Amino acid sequence: MDSKNLDRSRLPHHVAIIMDGNGRWATLQGKSRIEGHRRGKTSVRVIVETTRKLGIPFLTLFAFSTENWLRPQDEVHALMGLLETYLIAEQPKMMRYGIRLKAIGNRDRLPLNVRRTLEDVIELTQRNTRMTVVLALSYSGRDEIVRMVNKIRRRVLAGEFQSSDVEEEIVSAHMDTPDIPDPDLLIRTSGEMRISNFYLWQIAYTELYVTPTLWPDFREQEYFQALQEYQRRRRRFGRTDEQITEPARLRVGSSGRES
Ligand code: FPP
Repeated sequence: MDSKNLDRSRLPHHVAIIMDGNGRWATLQGKSRIEGHRRGKTSVRVIVETTRKLGIPFLTLFAFSTENWLRPQDEVHALMGLLETYLIAEQPKMMRYGIRLKAIGNRDRLPLNVRRTLEDVIELTQRNTRMTVVLALSYSGRDEIVRMVNKIRRRVLAGEFQSSDVEEEIVSAHMDTPDIPDPDLLIRTSGEMRISNFYLWQIAYTELYVTPTLWPDFREQEYFQALQEYQRRRRRFGRTDEQITEPARLRVGSSGRES
């Protein structure tokens, strides 16, 4: 299929991806895990490019989890190296196409050279407005929630607001994504039916799509299929079918709970 089968007026605003299966791809090819990640980096380039061409304004890629620090040192080192070369190589394209780079997670744990490169690219691209690429690096959803609680606690202790004032908006504002809309579509490659500590708070109403395709093989065609499936979904946000046929009335609020 090609992008002509997609309804451009009903594309998601934010796609988030759990890029899984680099290791399995490598094993199947008789190659090293690092070779799998290298090939996965090409998929990253293709998917960012396709997202930009489609005009989808937000893309989050789960590139390195808090738990990934426990992998063998040479694999961690290789992943950090791939990340750095990606950032250096893609920076001119980000400027040319108006792409803003953001990172979520605990970046203090990143090696100094990677952190500096990351911060340079974030700063360089901060005023770009056509598309935002969010890299989840040293990120986990639970770690983000713990950091959110501590940020709020410090502000309560400083007397900026009272703990009884804390509601959904305040929690959202203290997550890593205060200026990023919740994902509309979460794609996971390589078939596992789980969230693996990725976005937790943000995916309350996100449509989930799991494909058996391994991340290094996930390219334009697979992406179009995921987007086409998304367009077949009927999003109700806890309301009834009758209510969603009247889109003007649809609001996602704190009282909307999915049935
Ligand atoms: C999961 O495959 C993938 C990762 C842990 C890292 C994702 C990294 C890349 C795609 C490479 C570079 C990234 C950027 C942003 C340039 P896995 O190793 O868990 O696969 P497995 O489950 O088959 O072992």
